[in-house]
Amino acid sequence: MKRPIVELAGTGRYVPERVLTNADFERMVDTSDQWIIERTGIRERHIASAEETIACMATSACRQVLEAAGVGVEEVDSLVVGTASPDRFLPSQACDIQKVLGANNAAAFDVGAACSGFLYGLNVAEGLIAAGTGKNVLVVGAERLSKITDYEDRTTCILFGDGAGATLVRPSSDGKRGILGNYQKTDGRLGDLLYRSSGGANEPPSEEMLKGRGYFIHMAGRETFKSAVRSMADACDQALSRAGLTGDQVDLLIPHQANMRIIEATAKHAGLPMDRVYVNIDRYGNTSAASIPIALDECVRSGRITAGSIVLMVAFGGGFTWASVVVRW
Ligand code: COA
Repeated sequence: MKRPIVELAGTGRYVPERVLTNADFERMVDTSDQWIIERTGIRERHIASAEETIACMATSACRQVLEAAGVGVEEVDSLVVGTASPDRFLPSQACDIQKVLGANNAAAFDVGAACSGFLYGLNVAEGLIAAGTGKNVLVVGAERLSKITDYEDRTTCILFGDGAGATLVRPSSDGKRGILGNYQKTDGRLGDLLYRSSGGANEPPSEEMLKGRGYFIHMAGRETFKSAVRSMADACDQALSRAGLTGDQVDLLIPHQANMRIIEATAKHAGLPMDRVYVNIDRYGNTSAASIPIALDECVRSGRITAGSIVLMVAFGGGFTWASVVVRW
């Protein structure tokens, strides 16, 4: 088994208070509670208020991480942020989180990998530490998808929610705890299956852009679903093989929470019964880059993950991107 270079120390999360239920969507678009539950597994999702910016949600999650890890904010040397829905485009989201958090000794930057952003961030953090560039790397996944969701499009609006989660990556304390294997992959040829066409330099904001609704997330659901099932299976295999592990040695699978049927297919591929799979999609919907760190924090704080637990995290998202990390807690 691989000797880990880095470990994860401390977790944190922030989920907005306001909840949108399936019953709320029945009043907004032509849908039903039954359809949403059967096709996605989602019952409700949390929606940020005007004050609950990504900078604010992520800072709250990061403060919990630092407290749990016993690390001072001035000791953070890098802040890596995965998001597809930043508060603004310039400066990067990481800069605005750094400012609110007061992590003034850190280099702060975003990783653009959509729903895989948090796991890409963990992999970048491992690289920084392996290269001797970092010792305390905060990794964040945070989204305010409600701001880029088309609430007139029933095929996407029922899926997404807001929130933030984080962890700290640092050198492995005993050479046993930490990341045992990881993997990341991209297929940009499939980018037009899940995208936002305007708002960027190609189609700057205009009245026409707003009428065309290109500012919002567009998704070819069925094709995305099929790719997600295939890619998350690939990601499980690759990380486990790099760690020298097999599925039956995994104590807990934390998959990206996009669709209950994708989660079940991923678990089946990895040979894991559902009681070794963490599911919170019913409460949060798809929070993109925030979904895995929110779930991780829930598992750590509820005792579902304890010292020595082998945890496999696997994600898939726009790009398409996919990634996996297997860690001994
Ligand atoms: N309520 C009721 N009916 C709906 C609906 C809704 N909210 N959304 C779509 N439908 C309808 C469709 O219009 C279609 O009707 P038709 O047969 O008359 O054309 C029917 O349901 C089936 O649509 P389809 O898109 O095939 O449904 P699906 O079973 O694939 O489920 C998703 C749709 C979006 C839930 C599913 O494709 C999915 O989860 N995709 C991947 C999501 C994902 O992973 N996204 C992000 C990656 S991080």
